[in-house]
Amino acid sequence: MTNTLKILAVISATVISGTAAHAQDCPVSTTDPFDLTEADIASIYDCIGDKMVEGYAKGGDMVAKNYRNWTVTGTRHGVAGAHGNRLLLTYANDIAAEDYLKFAEEGVVMPVGSRLAKESIKINKKKNAAVVGPLFIMTKLEAGAAPKTNDWLYGGVLPNGKPMKFKQAFCHDCHQSWEDQDYLAYPLEEVRVGN
Ligand code: HEC
Repeated sequence: MTNTLKILAVISATVISGTAAHAQDCPVSTTDPFDLTEADIASIYDCIGDKMVEGYAKGGDMVAKNYRNWTVTGTRHGVAGAHGNRLLLTYANDIAAEDYLKFAEEGVVMPVGSRLAKESIKINKKKNAAVVGPLFIMTKLEAGAAPKTNDWLYGGVLPNGKPMKFKQAFCHDCHQSWEDQDYLAYPLEEVRVGN
């Protein structure tokens, strides 16, 4: 190889590896989550879907390890606005699935042991890329176990598998609005399974 060729080889290797590192961030065509099309969301999920669950499961959290085997309640990730304009997709465990999928608007009483786990993807404007957001969890406890949150326990797992720290009231103050639905907000109508 001539020196010129060697230099070219080094440059192209750098360019290729540089591109690969960038691809891991899942580039997006628009940084406004509300402008993403269904096709954009599908391609983001193709890129990030496996990585997110690997990250959540790193800390050994049982929900993080299992939720992808639960019932998926949306046809794709939706952007509802709440939860930081993230792309959201909720899974329901066996105890919760039947009741949750009715998306009933009144008289809802979820059975004890119901669990909802909602994975999230954030659009990072600086990186121009989609990155993993927290896994949000709600668990229905026995009657009287947590009077301040109407017996719901709120939990969360960070993208690196560590537990998310927050006050129960932070979540419940908002979820309180859906009292007739047992404090569940449900996915956006257009992405609900069965709609
Ligand atoms: C500002 C209001 C708001 C706050 C604060 C909030 N949520 Fe939510 N949450 C929502 C909305 C709206 C939805 C439904 C959006 C969707 O999934 O598309 C939702 C859905 C959920 C779901 C899926 C079950 C359901 O309600 O249908 C879980 C689990 C959840 N949130 C957990 C949490 C946790 C844990 C916290 C606190 C760390 C939290 N939420 C804070 C508004 C909020």
